[in-house]
Amino acid sequence: MTAATVALVLEWIAAVTGARRARRGAQLQSLWGGYGELFRVELDGGVAPTAVVKWVRPPAAAQATISDARKRRSYDVEATFYRDFAARCDDSCRVARLYGSRSVGGEWLFVLEDLDAAGFAIRHDDADATGLDACLSWLASFHARFLDAPANELWPTGTYWHLATRTDELSAISDPALRTLAPWLDARLTEARYQTILHGDPKEANFCFSEHGRRVAAVDFQYTGRGCAMKDVAYLLYGRSDEPADGIAHDHLDTYFRELRGAVERGPIAERVDLAAVEQEGRALYPLARLDFCRFLAGWRPARWQRDQRGQAYVRRQLERLGQNSK
Ligand SMILES: Nc1ncnc2c1ncn2[C@@H]1O[C@H](COP(=O)(O)OP(=O)(O)O)[C@@H](O)[C@H]1O
Ligand SMILES: [Mg+2]
Repeated sequence: MTAATVALVLEWIAAVTGARRARRGAQLQSLWGGYGELFRVELDGGVAPTAVVKWVRPPAAAQATISDARKRRSYDVEATFYRDFAARCDDSCRVARLYGSRSVGGEWLFVLEDLDAAGFAIRHDDADATGLDACLSWLASFHARFLDAPANELWPTGTYWHLATRTDELSAISDPALRTLAPWLDARLTEARYQTILHGDPKEANFCFSEHGRRVAAVDFQYTGRGCAMKDVAYLLYGRSDEPADGIAHDHLDTYFRELRGAVERGPIAERVDLAAVEQEGRALYPLARLDFCRFLAGWRPARWQRDQRGQAYVRRQLERLGQNSK
């Protein structure tokens, strides 16, 4: 990339942030698979002293694979999210403000509010109880906000692990019972009565925490789309060091549903939503959402799955439970 290209991009960044000048600061990280980078910019004048830029430049070598096409679409989805949905997220499901985005010549640029400067400077991989509660509360507020909302131009099915994107990995699943059950599991979640908009990748790395971990803001809306809320919750809770023996983290689910009730009751749809029915369905589907995520793990990295003793024990227990129920 030439210095002239960078200068033009910085000029554009200054324009969308109302700054006299934008200077490139430190890199935050490179994007997965060599798809570009995130860096901070320093602004003279304008909306804020700094901003964070996500500059996506897919590598030429990656062109024309299915996974590349999906990734490219994911950046359009992220742009759509920030453009059409983010404004509906208040402090209870905080997201960065978008100062500007553009997609030209197979590249994407996002200029975002600097969440570190906004009071969310801490990152965690295995958050403590306070931090996890903040993530659960964020998810509950987000799901409440978009309960039954149309997901126009986001993914028709949110998350990066749902079955339709992983059919070629099904044959890698060594357990025939799990393989056979996969379409049924997917259908149960897809046909759930209560659908919302999922974040789609709510791991701890995609949350920015406040200093004491009581509040979070989320980033990374590439796999955002319609779905059963339990998929996001099961994903966030998977593989934590505090997982109970039966794999169902009841206390964390209690927190999630308490926050969901609060968020719905505060919101404009309180009158129209049967909260007891939402919770009842959610609790019944949670074990299936978790099992569906195990299905993904088992097909995606079979060798790693073989070492996931707790995951395998969970699958055995659930298969037995489901088998007994269908007798
Ligand atoms: N607006 C922002 N403010 C501060 N940090 C951010 C912002 N956006 C992203 N980050 C940081 O950069 C990391 C990567 O960004 P993300 O959009 O998740 O890219 P990737 O697709 O590579 O995961 C995030 O996990 C977060 O720590
Ligand atoms: Mg990320």
